[in-house]
Amino acid sequence: MTTPRTVLEALTRSPLGFLRTAWPWRALGYLLSGGGFATGVYLGVAGLLTAPVGTFARVLCAGALVVFAVALAGPLERRRLALVDRGDGDGRGSGDRRRPRHSTRTAGYGAVSVLAVGWMDLAVALVSLGIPGFLLLTPFQPTALPWQTVAGPVAGALLLPVAAYPIGAWAAVRAAVGRAVLFPKDRELREVVRSRARLVDAFETERRRIERDLHDGAQQRLVALTMKLGLATLDLPPGSAAARQVGEAHALAKEALTELRELIRGIHPQILTERGLPAAARDIAGRCPIPTDLDLDLPGRLPAAVEQTAYYVTAEALTNIGRHSGADRCRVSARCHDGVLRLDIEDNGSGDADPARGTGLVGLADRIAAVGGRMLLSSPPGGPTLLRAEIPCAGPSS
Ligand SMILES: Nc1ncnc2c1ncn2[C@@H]1O[C@H](COP(=O)(O)OP(=O)(O)O)[C@@H](O)[C@H]1O
Ligand SMILES: [Mg+2]
Repeated sequence: MTTPRTVLEALTRSPLGFLRTAWPWRALGYLLSGGGFATGVYLGVAGLLTAPVGTFARVLCAGALVVFAVALAGPLERRRLALVDRGDGDGRGSGDRRRPRHSTRTAGYGAVSVLAVGWMDLAVALVSLGIPGFLLLTPFQPTALPWQTVAGPVAGALLLPVAAYPIGAWAAVRAAVGRAVLFPKDRELREVVRSRARLVDAFETERRRIERDLHDGAQQRLVALTMKLGLATLDLPPGSAAARQVGEAHALAKEALTELRELIRGIHPQILTERGLPAAARDIAGRCPIPTDLDLDLPGRLPAAVEQTAYYVTAEALTNIGRHSGADRCRVSARCHDGVLRLDIEDNGSGDADPARGTGLVGLADRIAAVGGRMLLSSPPGGPTLLRAEIPCAGPSS
């Protein structure tokens, strides 16, 4: 197991082991440094405001101190964060030596830290340690009864380690907020999504190229071959062995042509590009061996990537139904609502679909995730099966 990188990890991984680590001390240092800084600023401002000088000078100096403290608080917060958060090695987090990218964010966070939250850090540390501390000092209190001079220190000694938990928990909350504000990860996340989208685009371009090559090359040759074989059959004496052989070759060539057309349609469906999702879904449903009800209510053309994804979801789901479900009826429905295309494919078959048993469903989930959507599957043993794809579809169609 790797060593914890944050106080929260240390606390949640092994609540008892937490006490034997340096994390409680680091958390205490974190809270005391923040609280101490805020208290220092408050005392400084109070001292300046009551100084025996003119009102204008007092307010000006106190204001200058607050501005200075706020400017210092952001960078200080980043350094303090290293006490309870070692960073995650991905270029973010307090373990990272780079400056946070958002200086206004840093200043704003510094202001909130000093002016509002710093005293809470101090309060949590003092209350957590104050209660056991007070009990430990019972023997020195003049009014303490004899039994209290014994019970007090015992209770205090027992409660002292417990203080590590509120201190650790509060430091963890503060660190999580600090990290989210000072080292936001949205930029990295968007970058990943963008590069995934690029990959899908590259894949689609390659698909179209293969489809074009097959369409213009291999398919044309097969068409020519089929025609020539057809003509050759006509030239041979009917019923002869040669006519039979050429006839068989002609039938084989026609089968190969049909298979190639299916293959081309699977690689890049022309009908989808030309006539959109409802027409393409009707085409898939028409080839499905199970009677399929279609209920597609879409507001015109959707973005190309959305239509393609929805097409492959429909094709794979209906293939699965034909192959595995034993259903006698299925239904495809699609709606666009709040910028999300919801595509449902249901069947009344035997259920128990399991993505772990094949590659089709997992591939679909990947494909949907690549365009920012998600796939849901409900398929209890005995059925029915519902496969749902939710795909964001806001944006211009292309
Ligand atoms: N509609 C369905 N009804 C019943 N079982 C299904 C259905 N869809 C998929 N399955 C089951 O889930 C498994 C995984 O499906 P999939 O990932 O598409 O793989 P493949 O179709 O290549 O076997 C299938 O092997 C099948 O057993
Ligand atoms: Mg499959």
